[in-house]
Amino acid sequence: MSNLLDTVDLDQQLQQQSPQEILQFAIEQHGNIAISFSGAEDVVLIDMAHKIDPDVEVFCLDTGRLHPETYRFIERVREHYGIYIDVRYPDGEAVRELVQEKGLFSFYQDNHQECCSIRKIAPLRAKLLEVDAWVTGQRRDQSPGTRAQIPVIQEDKVFARENDTLTKFNPLANWTSKQVWNYIRTYDVPYNELHDRGFVSIGCEPCTRPIGPGQHEREGRWWWEEATKKECGLHATNIEQ
Ligand code: ADX
Ligand code: SF4
Repeated sequence: MSNLLDTVDLDQQLQQQSPQEILQFAIEQHGNIAISFSGAEDVVLIDMAHKIDPDVEVFCLDTGRLHPETYRFIERVREHYGIYIDVRYPDGEAVRELVQEKGLFSFYQDNHQECCSIRKIAPLRAKLLEVDAWVTGQRRDQSPGTRAQIPVIQEDKVFARENDTLTKFNPLANWTSKQVWNYIRTYDVPYNELHDRGFVSIGCEPCTRPIGPGQHEREGRWWWEEATKKECGLHATNIEQ
């Protein structure tokens, strides 16, 4: 991506395209691209990408605090598509220091940023140093406070290597939750069994809860914090915007 203007122009064109067309473009343009996988949206992307290139790279950040159901789900996805999933882990010493100093649930007291930064952001940063582009399952209607404006393609300045560019694709930016679930049912895509128990947006076990009727999906994440702060830093570009 030569400059920001190019990316903005390109975004306008890609906004008109289907997620499959966006993925096709992303994979053709970037040999070294990886899909970040944790939730229902991401398996839709894996399903679509797998039909374009069965060797497309997939990675997942294991924070050490995921639900047992989520671990089973990751394994089901691996087996269903016969793919290698690059599971990344936090630095053991950094986790040990945090837990020794503040205990296992410090995020309920002093917010989730510190724990997320050790368990998610540092491993993500290390992974993104190895690629030219990454793909996420973010949607605009996922979080009115922070995701309402996400583009389909953007320059990721937060995680780019020094003096280099990193491109981030959000092929489902314009899709609704209903479209995601229609796709899952139509193509028999594996999903996290927690969705059958009222969970909508799923992250780490201590920071995720099911939602009730009429609640927005994001209300099930870090529910003790203000809505506008509900980004853990994986998508820090959303907060900058
Ligand atoms: S979060 O930043 O609040 O945790 P969210 O759960 O909404 O993110 O997921 C948005 C996108 O971020 C997912 O579609 C996925 O691409 C990426 N993502 C979130 N958590 C992980 C994870 N543990 N491993 C890999 N990618 C993730
Ligand atoms: Fe820690 Fe919660 Fe962030 Fe997971 S979501 S890394 S448990 S603060």
